[in-house]
Amino acid sequence: MTNIIIKNKQINELGSCDLESLLSLYSNRFQNLSQNLKLDSTEKIFNLSELEDNFTKKISIIIRINNIVQQLESYSINCEDFSKAKTLIFFKEKVSKGTLAKLKILIEGIVVKFIIENGILLDIIFPGDKSLLLKLDSTHLKTKSKVAIMSDIHIGSTLFREENFLDAINFIINDADIKYLILAGDVCDGVGIYPGHENNLLITDIEKQYVKAAEILNIIPKEKTVFFVPGNHDASPLFEPQKKLTERYSKYFNKNIIFTTNPTNIFLENRDFLVYHGASLDGIISSSEEFSYDDAGKVMEYLLRIKHLAPKLGRSAISSWYNIDHLIIKNMPWAFITGHIHTFTNYELSNGTKLFNAGTWQDLSDFQRRLGHKPIFCKLLICSLGDGFTEVKDFYA
Ligand SMILES: [Fe+2]
Repeated sequence: MTNIIIKNKQINELGSCDLESLLSLYSNRFQNLSQNLKLDSTEKIFNLSELEDNFTKKISIIIRINNIVQQLESYSINCEDFSKAKTLIFFKEKVSKGTLAKLKILIEGIVVKFIIENGILLDIIFPGDKSLLLKLDSTHLKTKSKVAIMSDIHIGSTLFREENFLDAINFIINDADIKYLILAGDVCDGVGIYPGHENNLLITDIEKQYVKAAEILNIIPKEKTVFFVPGNHDASPLFEPQKKLTERYSKYFNKNIIFTTNPTNIFLENRDFLVYHGASLDGIISSSEEFSYDDAGKVMEYLLRIKHLAPKLGRSAISSWYNIDHLIIKNMPWAFITGHIHTFTNYELSNGTKLFNAGTWQDLSDFQRRLGHKPIFCKLLICSLGDGFTEVKDFYA
């Protein structure tokens, strides 16, 4: 365990879920992300309340986006800072092509910097822009260790591809270099998750689903460490950050299976893996035509760019109303892992961060078909901690 450090979210109690807590959460997000948007401590940032008096000057404002409406000839953006809430209107003909592209990916809840002059939007800066330009340390480590990555297994479902999954587990067992396995959520299918879910369940008792999961995962020898990150189908309340599974379910698993929060940061031999199941991906994909279920990587890059895992306070990403925003991305990870939308991503950003979405081990349900999911089945990602090389093993047959 000396090579492993887990930085779970410290969430001992649920927030009070009142307006005061929500305001406090948003203030915390605004203050934190504002720091990433300033060039340096001397940069002058204007308040929204000062905008009219400085209309002709070239100025910078930092705002939280509340709502954005695209009209025929303009964009109408409702936003706020600590001084006031305001609706800003920018005519498309006065916005450069590059900035128009950035306008199209503004969504509720994010914090950005606008550079404005004479009513013209000159540029939009995102909190992660600077850090995405900084190259990560690419030094190779002297280790042969590899990490296997899987997600969305959905044990308990009639659609669970058990034989394929067992083949993959046996492959992991037989590869001595695979020292770690990360399960990025939806290990079990749960009960009552979507309308008609009961029609797709082979095991209708959630506790028995975990007994079955333990039967399978417990065959992994104790020399290999398995990380169990909960997803929205697992037996952990949906509030994000999600708590790790309780003893009621975790007691069935061997000690080498470690339960974490969602999201969590797992450091394996000094490589930082940010693991987030990805409930917010639905809301982001539905908020902008620039995103789709076909390309999880584009959404994941966007999350790194806005430095936040779930900016929208919505149906599928319910931020618990803590006073501190636990979903801010503080540091650029070596690898960023999501699941949830059952698609497959394996590529590296120009700064060196690897993006992985590990597909699924469950056939397509009617509910997912209606949502527009286009799943990729039974692929196992295996990433070398030494040189970062990632191979993909296909277990779909
Ligand atoms: Fe899933």
